[in-house]
Amino acid sequence: MAALHFVHVVYQFMLAAATPLVAQRPFWFVVVPLIVVLLPVICQRLLHCRRPNAGESRKHSSKPLLPSPTRRLPVIGHLHLVGDLPHVSLRDLATKHDRGGGLMLLQLGTVPNLVVSSPRAAQVVLSTYDHVFASRPTSKVFHNFLYGSSTIGFGAYGEHWRKVRKLVTTHLFAVKKVNSFCHARQEEVRLVMAKLKKAMATGMAVDMSETMNTFANDIMCCVVSGKFFREDGRNKTFRELIEMNSALYAGFSLENYFPRLLNSLGIFTRFVSRTVDKTHERWDEVLENIISDHERRSFNYGRGDRAGQEEGADFVDVMLSVQQEYGITRDHIKAVLMDMFDAGTVTSSLVLDLAMAELMRHPHIMTKQRHPESWEKAEEFMPDRFMDGGSAATIDLKGNDFQFIPFGAGRRMCPGMNFGLATVEIMLANLMYCFDWGLPAGMDKEDIDMTEVFGLTVHRKEKLMVVPKLPGTASYA
Ligand code: HEM
Repeated sequence: MAALHFVHVVYQFMLAAATPLVAQRPFWFVVVPLIVVLLPVICQRLLHCRRPNAGESRKHSSKPLLPSPTRRLPVIGHLHLVGDLPHVSLRDLATKHDRGGGLMLLQLGTVPNLVVSSPRAAQVVLSTYDHVFASRPTSKVFHNFLYGSSTIGFGAYGEHWRKVRKLVTTHLFAVKKVNSFCHARQEEVRLVMAKLKKAMATGMAVDMSETMNTFANDIMCCVVSGKFFREDGRNKTFRELIEMNSALYAGFSLENYFPRLLNSLGIFTRFVSRTVDKTHERWDEVLENIISDHERRSFNYGRGDRAGQEEGADFVDVMLSVQQEYGITRDHIKAVLMDMFDAGTVTSSLVLDLAMAELMRHPHIMTKQRHPESWEKAEEFMPDRFMDGGSAATIDLKGNDFQFIPFGAGRRMCPGMNFGLATVEIMLANLMYCFDWGLPAGMDKEDIDMTEVFGLTVHRKEKLMVVPKLPGTASYA
């Protein structure tokens, strides 16, 4: 297991509804031309940066301790084996090369990556060796953008990360706190149902992807910044900002594969930093306004730190009230708020979008029939397996059963799980209960495009158009 110590990133591609932060798109259509142009400089730099001493040289010349594909190229390593959908490429490579142990080593650029593909191996990595893998790769490009890398999601494993993680788990995501937002959730669900009823009356198709995205974003806006979030169009601003972030995170994996080289050459940072800086300025302005508003309101009503303890207090109120206790700065608060939007909206909305797409492709499931099925058909949409009497009825999704870890496991596991589940469950239950569902005229279930796009989260490429109908009127063949 000593080999595990030099591995920087763990790719986990266990069955998961959404997959944030676990793998980066290789962008090798960018990598290859860039490398060809820079080949002479790269070779020189690599030799300079990575030249091992005599002892290291002996160590590296021995056969790798872990299975690894043989087709490793100079400079890019195994990067050419990873396609546009890394989670699919990694699954296929692991099936071929991991010799049944569930572990495989890939050299992506200059960075060794451990691919973990079996429940048993995931358990070893995420429990026994969790402390070894609990950090994230550092990024020079994003350091300032992420308030000195102080967000929870991208922060290095260390004292600051532990502190803010404790803060959010204790004060923002405890079950009681999550439950206290049930009115906000109900109100947002009510708005969506009203919109769908209107569409039902006219027989219009609804863009479900967009509707779910707005829903998850509006809930997050409400719990972060209070019930007035719509008045000045904050929800729209945040949607725009989240999209800008997703584009930025998805595009800069080059830094992950050639970190030292690109940082020392400085091209990469210069090339992207202007966009990153501009986006950061916009985030900072919006977050600063929200925090100042809250301070003013607390002051005007003489609530002071008590505002954060009140029933239904929003995230900003809570964080301001514990700021001194946790010794965090204003920038740290902004970093955590950015985390909430980055990690908490798209994940929930994509799960809903995917669930609806799968239900439309398997309409018989909406008739609530039950078929005991086997776990082996892991790629198939069979929600019944999790219900009483199903083959996976006792499987826990909260990080204890390593064959199913949609929220991750170990120290880095999703802290917003209760929040995400509450958001997804109430919406999905209402969608199923209040309507029957059909597809736009001329479209069959086979026409639903499930093509995936890789990014910070894996998502379906095409939007999902569906037609809401009166309950009991659709025939689900
Ligand atoms: C159904 C919805 C959700 C799913 C499927 C999901 C899934 C995940 C996964 C797989 C991870 C990575 C775990 C790892 O690296 O091992 C993660 C991390 C994270 N999630 Fe979620 N999540 C969801 C909702 C939320 C919500 C609602 C929030 C906040 C409001 C949130 C906040 C975070 C944060 C801050 C991290 C980073 C944790 C760290 O690095 O320490 N998530 N999530």
